Amino acid sequence: MALIMETRLLLRKVKDLRCFTPRRTRVKEKWAATRPKFPPTKLALQHFDATYSVQLGKLWPSVRVALLSERKYGALLNNFSHDGVLEDLQAQGCRDFISDKAEEAQPCLELSSEVESRRDCMSTNKSADNSQQLSSLQFSPNIKCLVFPRGDITRFKPAKPDTYGLLGYYLMDAASLLPCLALDVQEGHTVLDLCAAPGGKTLALHQMQIVRFLCVNDTSVSRTLRLKRVLHSYTPKELLTVEKLRITSFDGTKWGEIESNTFDRVLVDVPCTTDRHSVMEDDNNIFSKSRIGERRRLPQLQLELLLAGIEAACPGGEILYSTCTLSQSQNLAVVEQAIHLARQNHGIHLQVVGLRHLTQMFRNTFHFAPDLHLGEMVIPHLAANFGPIYMCKLKRLT
Ligand SMILES: C[S@@+](CC[C@H](N)C(=O)[O-])C[C@H]1O[C@@H](n2cnc3c(N)ncnc32)[C@H](O)[C@@H]1O
Repeated sequence: MALIMETRLLLRKVKDLRCFTPRRTRVKEKWAATRPKFPPTKLALQHFDATYSVQLGKLWPSVRVALLSERKYGALLNNFSHDGVLEDLQAQGCRDFISDKAEEAQPCLELSSEVESRRDCMSTNKSADNSQQLSSLQFSPNIKCLVFPRGDITRFKPAKPDTYGLLGYYLMDAASLLPCLALDVQEGHTVLDLCAAPGGKTLALHQMQIVRFLCVNDTSVSRTLRLKRVLHSYTPKELLTVEKLRITSFDGTKWGEIESNTFDRVLVDVPCTTDRHSVMEDDNNIFSKSRIGERRRLPQLQLELLLAGIEAACPGGEILYSTCTLSQSQNLAVVEQAIHLARQNHGIHLQVVGLRHLTQMFRNTFHFAPDLHLGEMVIPHLAANFGPIYMCKLKRLT
């Protein structure tokens, strides 16, 4: 007892010693004037708590924890690199989630088409024959993305250049590849990537080596330069010819006026609230006070970009809309409005193409939101901390 009393007294004395530290040598954490009361990351989290707790209900607490934890990456393999990168990554315990999908998909084929046709009945726009898509969906064998198993949070080492200076893999959120796979690019297609920088999805489309002509655009000149650097770090010069690839920095909202009814496939990967970045990084954060206007205008910009992408596709062509936010107003609401306005203002009729087959294929790698009535969404989960990625596919009927 006496010993405990003595220890307590000693601790109190140590605490009191602070009072004798001269004021000038005390360190103040940071002056209040230079630190915002509510940093953008906090504002973002407050906003998400208010909206996503309603939108996602009981899923939100676990998605929130995952959003605030370290994200997981995938290594998009560079087919043009000559070193034994694939074997090396496999030896570390990684697997290519794309070629593994076949075994995952088999037991669920019937269930998947059944669920999808039920969803089609409920949604007037969903008339795509999913069972047919299941058998016809074939990915280019050239696209490989390696991931560590579920629950394994090992980080990838930075990629090294091979003897020709090409990097062996590109690190990206593996869920970001799903929009490229969902686009279902086939041999000889012309493809437009409307908002392409910094270029992860462009690189994936290029790696497929089946596109006849790839048109890559991003309004930001500096980000377009970054994209060019990415392409040059992964591709031999002779494959980056003007006959095969065009890179521009136009305002994508005007694309329909420049080049309409043209492309077999159009990827519209729009700017959004980038939820994961918004809760983790104060720098360049769309929730900062100076960017309130920009953030409020996002759904309108997204709508204009999607409409431009729809116009750029040829009749019969397909358009993939994607974001990296969970927000309904930037996802489903934008797609719904675009379908309506495309018909009303441009006489373009669209069909929503179901993607349930894709979620079934990759259900062992990603967590998908249940019961979205339009499109599919990867939601972050601690055991597989990819996403968020929302995607919705449209087919031009006229
Ligand atoms: C989500 S990022 C695209 C990411 C890219 N697809 C990738 O996989 O690396 C959105 C991009 O849209 C671009 N952007 C914003 N407004 C645009 C516009 N009006 N036209 C074209 N691109 C735009 C931004 O510069 C940004 O690079």
